[in-house]
Amino acid sequence: MNKKGFIFDLDGVIVDTAKYHYLAWKSLANELGFDITLEQNEQLKGVSRVRSLEIILGWGNKTLSDEQFSKYMAEKNDNYLSHIAQMDAGEILPDVPKTLNYLQETQQGIALGSASKNARKILQKVGLFEVFQAIVDGNNVSKAKPDPEVFLIAAKKLNITPKNCIVFEDSVAGVTAANSAEMISIGIGSQETLGHADYVFKDFTEIQTSFINELIKR
Ligand code: BG6
Ligand code: MG
Repeated sequence: MNKKGFIFDLDGVIVDTAKYHYLAWKSLANELGFDITLEQNEQLKGVSRVRSLEIILGWGNKTLSDEQFSKYMAEKNDNYLSHIAQMDAGEILPDVPKTLNYLQETQQGIALGSASKNARKILQKVGLFEVFQAIVDGNNVSKAKPDPEVFLIAAKKLNITPKNCIVFEDSVAGVTAANSAEMISIGIGSQETLGHADYVFKDFTEIQTSFINELIKR
């Protein structure tokens, strides 16, 4: 059977941590005297921690000293980590284990391609660390999504050419990154937000084994 590289984003694809990022940023914005909507939050998905804070400050028309900026970054991460501390395997999104198991059974390459610097910690919390043959996260890249770097490094670590890789992503920036890497992009979310992906599914419960087989064979 053919071997392909399946590269998974973490937040919002494997686990629903996107909601915790949102809660933590929202509470920070509230502290600064404004609010963030769910629509605005879409633009933060897949975006690095530093860049997210810059974008949020722009929305609130706020400027911070370097010292304050660092303080708020740390505060957001502490808030986020307080949610992560409660996580266990129950927070893995529906049918993600089924897909991962199938990919393991068929001996496909499985990698993580995430912007998060907390990715390894989260994989350990939910018991999926061992499933990934390669992990590329926010600590390993110099250029954030939508730059394709994270996925290109993952492909290299798997020793599979980019055109034989498939990326699962819930963010606009991540789908753009996968497309720029010339990989097959699978959006997890709404067609409205992720219309630039090659395929879009609401979640993994919509992804059939027959579809995975087609990807493996192509
Ligand atoms: C991405 C999330 O996966 O990681 C973003 O979609 C987040 O919302 C980014 O800002 C960085 O995560 P962390 O855990 O390093 O703050
Ligand atoms: Mg994501």
